[in-house]
Amino acid sequence: MAHKILDLYPKLTHLSEDELDFTEFTAAAIPVLPSEKIELTKSRFLTAIQNFTKLDLNIELTNWPDFTAKAGEIIEVPISAGTLTRIYLVGIGDQSEDDLRKASAALGRKVKATNTVLISALATEKAKVITHSVALVLSNYQFTFKSEQKDKKPVFIIYGDFDEEVAHADLLASAVWQARNLIHTPSNIKNPEWLAKQATAMVSAAKNSSLSINIKSGRALREFGGLSAVGNSSPNPGPRLIEVSYAPKGSSNWPHVVLVGKGITFDTGGISLKRPYDTMVAMKSDMAGAAAVLCATVAMAKLKPKVKVTALLMAAENALSATSQRPSDVIKHFGGTTVEVLNTDAEGRLVLADGLAYADLELDPDYLVDVATLTGAATLGLGRQYAAMYTRQKTIAKKLYEVGSQVGEKVWHMPLIDDYSVALESDIADFNHLADKFGFSAGSVTAALFLEKFVGDRNWVHLDIAGTGRSETDAGENVKGGTGFGVRLLIEWLGSF
Ligand code: BES
Ligand code: MN
Ligand code: ZN
Repeated sequence: MAHKILDLYPKLTHLSEDELDFTEFTAAAIPVLPSEKIELTKSRFLTAIQNFTKLDLNIELTNWPDFTAKAGEIIEVPISAGTLTRIYLVGIGDQSEDDLRKASAALGRKVKATNTVLISALATEKAKVITHSVALVLSNYQFTFKSEQKDKKPVFIIYGDFDEEVAHADLLASAVWQARNLIHTPSNIKNPEWLAKQATAMVSAAKNSSLSINIKSGRALREFGGLSAVGNSSPNPGPRLIEVSYAPKGSSNWPHVVLVGKGITFDTGGISLKRPYDTMVAMKSDMAGAAAVLCATVAMAKLKPKVKVTALLMAAENALSATSQRPSDVIKHFGGTTVEVLNTDAEGRLVLADGLAYADLELDPDYLVDVATLTGAATLGLGRQYAAMYTRQKTIAKKLYEVGSQVGEKVWHMPLIDDYSVALESDIADFNHLADKFGFSAGSVTAALFLEKFVGDRNWVHLDIAGTGRSETDAGENVKGGTGFGVRLLIEWLGSF
């Protein structure tokens, strides 16, 4: 089945103050701050646009007495001045990053799937230009296999001398966009082999000699008992371990970060079939962790930070078939740990365990980070706005919390509760993977405790993105489906080395 997806990624650029020429745009956006008496802040841009349109925009504002300028509230002023047809007066709320992000996404949606050429003066500081631009682009995300598609996309022009910031925003947004494309692809197209091909194509398109890729399949995976047990449920084409490395010349003494991503290309639950059945529909997103680590690694390489990065994509389908594993099977993970499989729907931790153990035993990481749509319990606990972060390292937790808040991918530090470890006991193997013995609940915590058994003494962080990896509605920067959560967080964190 050959599907075509149009490239609907908006064009993002900037324009310095001296180059401002309103005959080149079809729309303009101006920020409005909430205050007792709402009026537009004086600026060169405001003066210029008022001169050009012969409008007093403060008078326009008084036509909207209910306008409060909270983030995302937008007044659309229709005009006819040359090619200019719209002025958007955009409430930017309390001027926080979060409010600016909301406002920018709302503005981006206004022009989604149109050929609007929008000049925006919403952000005037460097960091805010990045937030603003990324949200404009991402709110325009579309993924469709409709046979008739509209090939319309906006051009975003950021007002001001923000060359570097706009380039950085483009790097972030296009990496998230790519991750979303991988996550939105249906699972009749996307299998582990397909994911490996996509990764190969991305690495070669990057034309970066510091990036390389290695793919293990078949017999090369014989020591990876978790990945094999899960992935052999769908033997054609079977599981893959996709290893993407960023290792510039001279990097042998640099810190090494290994990222492990859950890459379940579809999760039926296996023999422990998912119930109710309709919860399965969302499970093409179960490789969102793998997509995040892949797209972040390829993108961060462009920033040339002094860190070595290895991304391990644990790619497998969790199918219901004659070759599915059975509840009660005992498997042997990379490194020899034996595990009793009690529920084949807890498959993510099995593929991750191999990746973590392999990283610990073979790759000597200074930091070991896994990203996974691991448990429904994480969504119950934190909802869809915060990912659950587990680590014993307070410094890294603080850093990731800060970076996440800045980029709009928030993480919350959760406890690894040692009292619950006994839930992992097994009569027949080193551990059971279900971790529900003694009924502690806390499914996201006990899953993390299971993973921790495979990380040795490494500085390890586990991000459970089951809630944040997918959006159930079109809202803000997201459309219904994969969000690409983790991509910006990882790029900015790795870029800071
Ligand atoms: N992929 C799911 C987790 C998930 C659920 C992600 C909903 C996104 C949305 C995972 O493989 C799974 O099935 N987890 C089980 C674990 C349980 C059997 C211990 C869960 O959370 O119910
Ligand atoms: Mn599952
Ligand atoms: Zn899963």
